[in-house]
Amino acid sequence: MTDPFYITTPIYYVNARPHLGHAYTTITADVACRFHEMKSAETYFLTGTDEHGDKIERAARKENMTPREYVDKISGIFRALWPELNINNSQFIRTTDPSHQALVQRILQRIYDAGDIYFSEYEGKYCFGCERFYTDRELVDGKCPDHETAPEVIQEANYFFKMSRYQDWLINHIRQHPDFIRPERYRNEVLSFLKEPLDDLCISRPKTRLEWGIPLPFDDGYVTYVWFDALLNYVSALDYPEGERFQKFWPYVQHIVAKDILKPHGIYWPIMLKAAGIPVYNHLNVHGYWNVEESKMSKSLGNVIEPLTLKNVYGLDAFRYFLMREMVFGLDSSFSETALVQRINSDLANDLGNLFSRVVAMTHKYFSGVIPESTESAEERLSGLKFGTLSAAAAAAIDQYEAAMDGFAFHKGMVAVWEFINQMNKFIDVAAPWELAKQKASRPELASVLYQLLEGLRIVSGLIYPVMPETARKMQHHLGLSPDAPFYLLEALRVWKTLQPGGKLPKSTRLFPRIDLDAVQSRVAGGAAAEAETEQMAPLKPVVDIEAFAKIDLRVATVLKAEPVPKARKLLKLEVDMGEKRTIVSGISGSYSPDDLVGKQVIIVANLKPAKLMGVLSQGMLLAAAEENGVTVATLDKAVKPGTKLS
Ligand code: MSP
Repeated sequence: MTDPFYITTPIYYVNARPHLGHAYTTITADVACRFHEMKSAETYFLTGTDEHGDKIERAARKENMTPREYVDKISGIFRALWPELNINNSQFIRTTDPSHQALVQRILQRIYDAGDIYFSEYEGKYCFGCERFYTDRELVDGKCPDHETAPEVIQEANYFFKMSRYQDWLINHIRQHPDFIRPERYRNEVLSFLKEPLDDLCISRPKTRLEWGIPLPFDDGYVTYVWFDALLNYVSALDYPEGERFQKFWPYVQHIVAKDILKPHGIYWPIMLKAAGIPVYNHLNVHGYWNVEESKMSKSLGNVIEPLTLKNVYGLDAFRYFLMREMVFGLDSSFSETALVQRINSDLANDLGNLFSRVVAMTHKYFSGVIPESTESAEERLSGLKFGTLSAAAAAAIDQYEAAMDGFAFHKGMVAVWEFINQMNKFIDVAAPWELAKQKASRPELASVLYQLLEGLRIVSGLIYPVMPETARKMQHHLGLSPDAPFYLLEALRVWKTLQPGGKLPKSTRLFPRIDLDAVQSRVAGGAAAEAETEQMAPLKPVVDIEAFAKIDLRVATVLKAEPVPKARKLLKLEVDMGEKRTIVSGISGSYSPDDLVGKQVIIVANLKPAKLMGVLSQGMLLAAAEENGVTVATLDKAVKPGTKLS
């Protein structure tokens, strides 16, 4: 029996919309989970949202919403995104779920009763962005390394978790379990952090400073620190302690996080589990960061990548494949649309897509779309001709793939599949079925070559299932496999010659269209230029409310007469009809001659206090857009009655 498999993503803060980074972690978890389905494991996949804390409270305030309204909204956006990305999570947990809150209180009480939580006065340097105190050692030039702002010194009485007491235990645990934190660089990072004495962790916030949190069960004046609340989601989701799911899945848990939250997961979390008497997790899998064209993704840089946009432009499977193939799990990667398109064109459209359509098309051409049979005698003759058989290459690819995917080296898993695809492409070139087709006597060899290629493609369709489930199913259909067959089971993929000769294949199809790289590059460059232009936009004036705006009386007026104002270089005197006649003086003569204006309908601010310009009384102001090289008068799309209000 295969062991069950439990995979978790971080629960995401709801102070921002989901972006490429969140999508990467969640797709990775989905891929790992589907890979374990291939091994017939019973799987459980948890993701969700982290909704308490002052970061969230502040974000809600900024949106003029209550925290509750705000977290419901953003959490809903995350929840709705995952099915769009074909993510098959078993549960979506929210830290505002009542069952989660109850468990957090229960564990806090347990640790408090055991004497591992104490009350103390504390003065420290607090970063509001990170919602935590920093020691001097952790600050870089006196500033928070993440937010690059100086923390504020605050003093308060708080509850502390005695992490220091567990430091030696944790060091030993990590040493005795070499793959507790992987890849190794992050294990080393945690061990090197643990060389210094571990501070106790402040786990409360006074309600006077923060209300949006879970109250401490032993002191109603405080709420718990967001990390203490958040980390427990991994067990509360399984209905710890009584839950059947907890019994079944917790012993097999694998966490996935990025390097930004290594410390809470590599240090706080195992110590919390130990102190609460819960078995410590198995593996923490840590990946690197996606940067965008070498810089950190951030709202202020305006380079936040939206997963749905990429899905809509390039297709979901291509996007998922790119993420898995491009990032070496554990290291940082740089995202660019050019790199994405290059991968689509070379790996998907060329290597896999062409192979697939060629093989299916040849089966139609030479065998009327019926899967031919590969006889042993034909295979022997092929070996004599040095074309060999693909079975050994397929078995080797499956072995490499399985080892890589088991170790979270998804890029290596994909490399193993593509090596096999390339071997098939070479096999076609060497075996040259179109030559075999020329001689009647070679028909059994032709049949064998095509059968082996179809069989190889069956294996590829299974191996790509975790990363590209839709394409896998499309291939399944076009290889004539039954739609109900669990075609991706590793066990089935290991059995060579499973395709049934005699089966009829549907017409050939194209798996991935080629994308015009030049067009993408010029669109991206155009986008950058447009961004550069908008960057130069004049700063906006302070916001006014609708009541303030309603005080401005905008009216449509028809220009009856226009003439220059003597001695004024730019001014024109207009006589307009806006239900009543008015005189307006406007500085537009550099861009308009009087004749251009007569008969035009313009917009004027009708209740502006009259003012004298070069001796002429102007009873309003004409609206126009001013640019460096002139002005353009605002007009209407079609004629309306003079005096009509604008709103
Ligand atoms: N709420 C905490 C996690 C609590 S888990 C008990 C949190 N939330 S977060 O919204 O900031 O999500 C951080 C995670 O999002 C990272 O660990 C990673 O999984 C993902 N990513 C966010 N930006 C990322 C990149 N630029 N690149 C890759 N992954 C990134 O921390």
